Amino acid sequence: MHYLAIKGKQKLFGSVNISGAKNSVLPLLASTLISNKKICISNAPEVADVKTFIKLLENLGATCSFEKNIVNIDSTTVTSSCANYDIVRKMRASILVLGPLLVRFGHCEVSLPGGCAIGQRPIDLHLKALEQMGAEIEIKQGYVVAKAPKGLKGCTIIFDKVTVTGSENILMAASLAHGSTKLVNVAKEPEVVQLCEVLQDAGIKIEGIGTSQLIIHGTGGKLLDMKDVEVIPDRIEAGTYLCAGAITKSKITLNKVNPKHLEAVTLKLEEMGFGIKTTDDSITILPAEKIFPSDIETSEYPGFPTDLQAQFMALCTQAKGTSIIDERLFENRFMHVSELTRMGASIKLKGHSATVEGKGKLNGADVMATDLRASSALILAALVADGVTKIHRIYHLDRGYENLEGKFSKLGAKIERLEE
Ligand code: UD1
Repeated sequence: MHYLAIKGKQKLFGSVNISGAKNSVLPLLASTLISNKKICISNAPEVADVKTFIKLLENLGATCSFEKNIVNIDSTTVTSSCANYDIVRKMRASILVLGPLLVRFGHCEVSLPGGCAIGQRPIDLHLKALEQMGAEIEIKQGYVVAKAPKGLKGCTIIFDKVTVTGSENILMAASLAHGSTKLVNVAKEPEVVQLCEVLQDAGIKIEGIGTSQLIIHGTGGKLLDMKDVEVIPDRIEAGTYLCAGAITKSKITLNKVNPKHLEAVTLKLEEMGFGIKTTDDSITILPAEKIFPSDIETSEYPGFPTDLQAQFMALCTQAKGTSIIDERLFENRFMHVSELTRMGASIKLKGHSATVEGKGKLNGADVMATDLRASSALILAALVADGVTKIHRIYHLDRGYENLEGKFSKLGAKIERLEE
């Protein structure tokens, strides 16, 4: 197994190119299941989750190549509608095949993803919506067994909670349903918007794109004439590099990014004292003279993303004063707290709230990555810690960050991937 060794207290400089969004390419890959032809997806990040999703589609019978950030995928050759446990357990987002498989084949079996480090993460809202559209669903031996031999029927669905992959699943299912589907309380994340646009380019009429209410006019089972697509920039990777510039008090520039997708994040950084300059596709962060503490509450887009909560917690350890971080989406997303504490941070947890005393000083230590975003908080802490930090179990990071050491090294960090 590999670990990362990071020598702290190095200033960063220069620029970094942001990769395509992992959370966008996954639903786009799932949507190829309802395409009538081969699709080319460009700007796809070469990260483990994308490779796992491609493997899942290949297991179902798709033919695929993935080179130089370009996925060429033909899902017309898919014959199986069973997504098995071995792959689904590796990645919860595999549940995204449920809607497309059901609406294409009239039946499917998809393993239940199970729990994960950041909480229970149920899929009840995905299932309830499909049932409302006429699917018969049973849970058998750990699998969701869904049937809709005559196809799905459009109806009105009001999501009890905003769910990103739930919205995406039902959007894809509704695209091939009979009649119109009205979705209320839909996620407005840029990744959901990109999926809507791809479906719209394939001829589906969708009203309300980018709002919390969508009306989708389905094809009644006819596969879609999908077009090639370029994945949008990864706003979470971008937010992580902004925090890296911030925590090391460095000026760095992010290229190939969409600043509009990061407004909640850049506003928070400005409140904390950092300078932010943007162009249409770049963001430069300038050092703060004094880092002010912050109150952060995670919420759905366009609010502050839960996927950047851990990174901002690392940054708050360097603020002058007390910050309060409220995690509103996932009940157990504080696994990084004990590791940051081992590095000398002063953080108290109470329910879904963390109080961070900005003491400034952190020490290098051996720490354990626990989930994808928690691990990036440890990198950030390591960048300002005294001495060397060793981050173990970095396969979590490889799930979502492309060329991590390469990008950090280019920015001037002292970072190495070593064998345990
Ligand atoms: C997606 C993102 C993930 C991000 C999260 C929240 C992908 C591949 N992953 O995950 O990076 O952290 O959105 O922005 O896009 N819920 C239910 N029942 C359901 C579905 C969700 O109760 O059927 C709850 C969840 O437990 C959670 C909240 O709704 O509390 C939001 O979860 P959801 O938006 O579904 O997260 P994911 O789509 O899994």
